Amino acid sequence: KSIAVLHGGTSAEREVSLNSGQAVARGLEQAGYQVELIDTKYVPLADIAAKKVDCVFIALHGRGGEDGCLQGALEFMGLPYTGSGVLGSALCMDKIRTKQIWQAVGLPTAPFSIITKADFDEGNCSQILANLGGKAMVKPANEGSSIGMAKVSNEIELKNALTEAFGFDSQVLVEAWIDGPEYTVAILGDQVLPAIHMETPREFYDYEAKYQSNSTQYHCPSGLSDEDETQLKVLAKQAFDAVSAEGWGRVDVMRNDKGQWQLLEANTVPGMTETSLVPKAANAAGIDFSSLVSNIVELAIK
Ligand code: DAL
Ligand code: MG
Repeated sequence: KSIAVLHGGTSAEREVSLNSGQAVARGLEQAGYQVELIDTKYVPLADIAAKKVDCVFIALHGRGGEDGCLQGALEFMGLPYTGSGVLGSALCMDKIRTKQIWQAVGLPTAPFSIITKADFDEGNCSQILANLGGKAMVKPANEGSSIGMAKVSNEIELKNALTEAFGFDSQVLVEAWIDGPEYTVAILGDQVLPAIHMETPREFYDYEAKYQSNSTQYHCPSGLSDEDETQLKVLAKQAFDAVSAEGWGRVDVMRNDKGQWQLLEANTVPGMTETSLVPKAANAAGIDFSSLVSNIVELAIK
C-alpha cells in the first residue's frame, strides 16, 4: 500500500512535526509500505491529492494540520487519513472547548477563566488570579508542545503571560494551577496503552522538558497502583471519546494534591519521534514503532 506522510507545515510546532514525520516514514517503510514523505510547507494539497495514495498519514502538529482544516480537505477529496475526523480534530486543538465539553459531561478538569484579546482588561488580573486560587497556568487556546505557556503566581506575571500568549492566539485559557504529578495515556484504536508518568525538575513539563532536556524522566510503568492505573485509563478513554477523538491520540492528565485526576487536554496528532510518549507507551505494551504506525494506518483504512 502507498502512504503519503505529511509533516512539517507552518505551525509553531513545525520542528517537532519534521521529526515525527521522519520517524513515521521510517517505521512504515520497515513495515513494507511504499512511503512518500511530504513537507506541506512546500507542497500544495492539490499535488498531494494527485498522488492517489491509499492513505495519508497526518504527522502535522498544531494549526492547519491537527485542527480539522486538513481533515476537512481530505474528507472532501475522498482520501483516507489517519486519526481523528474534522470535529474531533477541531475540538481537541482548542483547549477551552475541550475543557467545556469535559465539564458538560461531568469529567474532571481544573477550574479556568477564558480571556480574549479583545476584552482583556489588565485591571482584572488580580481578580482572575484570586478566583483561581492565586496560582495559574496560562495557555494559548490553540497551541501545542507548551508553546506560549507560563506559570503565574501574581498579577504582574499574569499580565505578562497573557500578553505573551496573545502573541499566539486571541483566546487564552487561564487554568487553576494543579499541584501534582503529570501523566499521559495513549489510545490506539480500542486499546488504552499503559500510562506514563513524566517527571521534570523544571517548573512544569514545558517545551524544553519535552524536547531539549535530558533531565526529564519518563516512568512506564507509571508507578501507580493497579487500581489507580485502571481508573486513569478508563478516565482517559472517556475523555478521548467525549471530544470525538478517533483512531489514535494521547490524553494528558495531572493528579492534584487531593489525589483527584484533572484532565488537561487531548492530542489528536501527538509527537511521534521514536522517543516520544505514544511510542514509549506502545513499546511497554509490546508494540514496536513499526507496528504502531502500521496499526494507525490500518485503523484509517479498515
Ligand atoms: N503537541 C505535541 C506534538 C504532543 O502533544 O505530543
Ligand atoms: Mg497538545
